[in-house]
Amino acid sequence: MEEEPVNINEFRELARQSLPKMYYDFYAGGAEDQYTLKENEEAFHRITIRPRILRDVSGIDLSTTVLGYKISMPVMIAPTSMQKLANPEGEIATARAASTCGTIMVLSTSSSCSLEEVASCCNAIRFFQLYVYKRRDLSAKLVQRAENNGYRAVVVTVDSPRLGRREADIKNKLDVPPLKNLEGLLPNKFISEGGSGLEALASGTLDASFCWEDITWLKSITNLPILIKGVLTREDAIKSLEVGVAGIIVSNHGGRQLDYSLATISVLEEVVLAVRGKVPCFC
Ligand SMILES: Cc1cc2nc3c(=O)[nH]c(=O)nc-3n(C[C@H](O)[C@H](O)[C@H](O)COP(=O)(O)O)c2cc1C
Repeated sequence: MEEEPVNINEFRELARQSLPKMYYDFYAGGAEDQYTLKENEEAFHRITIRPRILRDVSGIDLSTTVLGYKISMPVMIAPTSMQKLANPEGEIATARAASTCGTIMVLSTSSSCSLEEVASCCNAIRFFQLYVYKRRDLSAKLVQRAENNGYRAVVVTVDSPRLGRREADIKNKLDVPPLKNLEGLLPNKFISEGGSGLEALASGTLDASFCWEDITWLKSITNLPILIKGVLTREDAIKSLEVGVAGIIVSNHGGRQLDYSLATISVLEEVVLAVRGKVPCFC
């Protein structure tokens, strides 16, 4: 690309040109037919603006608070795994960007940099995203490390009892590099038997039995507030309230998990209306 990219589509194209296909496909792809991935974008296109005119907009303030932390705009950085596949600085660069922009970064369990490295690189406000493993002691250790290293909340991802069938990763035989947070806790390499290394890692380790009752366990092992990531219905939003989480993240995991689930933005209103004023909701 000759000119500097100026929007997300152009950044995506630049990434496509720069990255090995295996990694580009991992970042850009969704599950199965990628219906939900496309719907996520199209649902945004269906939202149009009804503008009002002649208001004084010479000074505007987009800042807001999340769990009491002030951020400069209502945009946070979602957890995304394995960022060193795209840039040698990985999540450290993202944390610095979060700090510069005055927003919160959610660090993935499956990050390329360890949670300690990210904690010590800058003063960004950080939350820690948690996958719950069959070996609960591993998840408990991660939560403890996050708490000891100044992470302000645990974001438990609940839409991944098993990994979405990401066909590009299967075809490309996606190779998963060692994940720093899990060093010494899980084997460095998962044998994929010819398919996606991520699928092998997920099916070998993620706890598909994790359910509502286990949020009580999670609350018992940490003093940090718990946000639940992956809610898509009013019923589950109400259930989240009942188990006492501090916040709800409305998400379909970027269309990477259950294909043909609803577009995230299209269910935000349903969820907010169900729990309005009782617990904060993000999307
Ligand atoms: C490359 C990539 C890696 C991701 N890794 C994680 C992860 O490790 N943990 C997680 O909870 N979500 C992960 N996600 C999902 C994002 O946090 C986020 O939910 C998604 O990009 C936006 O979709 P949503 O608006 O439905 O949340 C990943 C997304 C992408 C694109």
